[in-house]
Amino acid sequence: MSQTPQFDEIIDRSNHNSDKWSKYPSDIIPMWIADMDFDAPRCVKDALTDRVQEGVFGYTHTPTSLVKAIQEHCLKHYNWQPATAHLIHLPGLVCALHLCVRALTEEGDRIIVPSPVYYHLTKAPEMSERSLDKIPFVLKGNRWSVDLGSLEESCKKADAKMLLLCNPHNPGATVYTQEELLAIHSIAQRHDLLVVSDEIHCDLILSDAKHIPFASLNEDAAQRSVILMAPSKTFNIAGLCYAFAVIANPTLRQCFKKAREALIPAPNLLALVAAEAAYKDGAAWHDALLSYLKGNRDYLRERIQGSQIKMADHDATYLAWLDVREYDLEDPHNFFLKAGVGISDGSGFGAPGFIRLNFGCSKSQLEQAMNRILIALESVS
Ligand SMILES: Cc1ncc(COP(=O)(O)O)c(C=O)c1O
Repeated sequence: MSQTPQFDEIIDRSNHNSDKWSKYPSDIIPMWIADMDFDAPRCVKDALTDRVQEGVFGYTHTPTSLVKAIQEHCLKHYNWQPATAHLIHLPGLVCALHLCVRALTEEGDRIIVPSPVYYHLTKAPEMSERSLDKIPFVLKGNRWSVDLGSLEESCKKADAKMLLLCNPHNPGATVYTQEELLAIHSIAQRHDLLVVSDEIHCDLILSDAKHIPFASLNEDAAQRSVILMAPSKTFNIAGLCYAFAVIANPTLRQCFKKAREALIPAPNLLALVAAEAAYKDGAAWHDALLSYLKGNRDYLRERIQGSQIKMADHDATYLAWLDVREYDLEDPHNFFLKAGVGISDGSGFGAPGFIRLNFGCSKSQLEQAMNRILIALESVS
């Protein structure tokens, strides 16, 4: 059977209990939650099939072969190799974000979050009685990035304890440069801040930008940070639920592990199998995916030319961040829903007037969605 990924193929997900496809009636094209409408890599499906055939699914632990596959993946892509003892295996990244806030800070501590951002980065402090300090993620030229002046100001406050970074940033599609990361690190070091870096989208780079894990900057950055990564977005296996944290600092690691004990289960056995297969054997699929997503990103940019939609540089993720403020829509989500497309409204990330459009789908579906979006917008121009 062919190994070539068929990203053009339309997969009927209507009977999959998919969050994405069950939210709206069948005439709506769902382009909201961050999963892609693509089959997982064949190596993942084969590994899962083989493991299911074994037929016994007792308690299990993370195999050293998965650890090795993660280390090799990180070394190849980021010239960074997390030590085995620093890795913590988890059933997802969101629980890890919330756990970091609860385990590594105290009630009332200030948690700094560049925003707009993926909503769990703001929810984690909000849900745990910490003080959330949103600092602006702003347009610099045509690229979204954190306002370093605001970060410095915020850090000066006595109760500032933790910075939650999202790199690559969702939404906004920014990959932090080394210069930016060093500047952030130097502020964090001056004010003795912990940095939790959500790097779930790190393998989805669609330009010449290079992803740099925060902990790989230098030894101090490694000692004051928690890095969160996962194969879930990269290989479209989010429903299997696996992520990992890298915590080099023994005190932070112990606090995190203690807080997790008995509350957060070990990753699912099949998730471990899928993660290992993806990291070990998914490279060709991953390369093909990146070139398909680049094609979709470029197509989207072409289609919005001549409209009033604005889209800044898009270096990573399959989540386009579109500024539709020129149209002065009262309720963008509802407006596009009526046009037949289910988008994520920017207000959910803290930016009303923006929408996030998931282009991790077949080109033909993207074409159809863009036709609907542009026709609807013409009617209000
Ligand atoms: C930045 C970011 N972090 C975390 C998650 C979710 O992670 P998980 O499914 O592993 O809990 C998402 C999903 O969209 C995301 O975009």
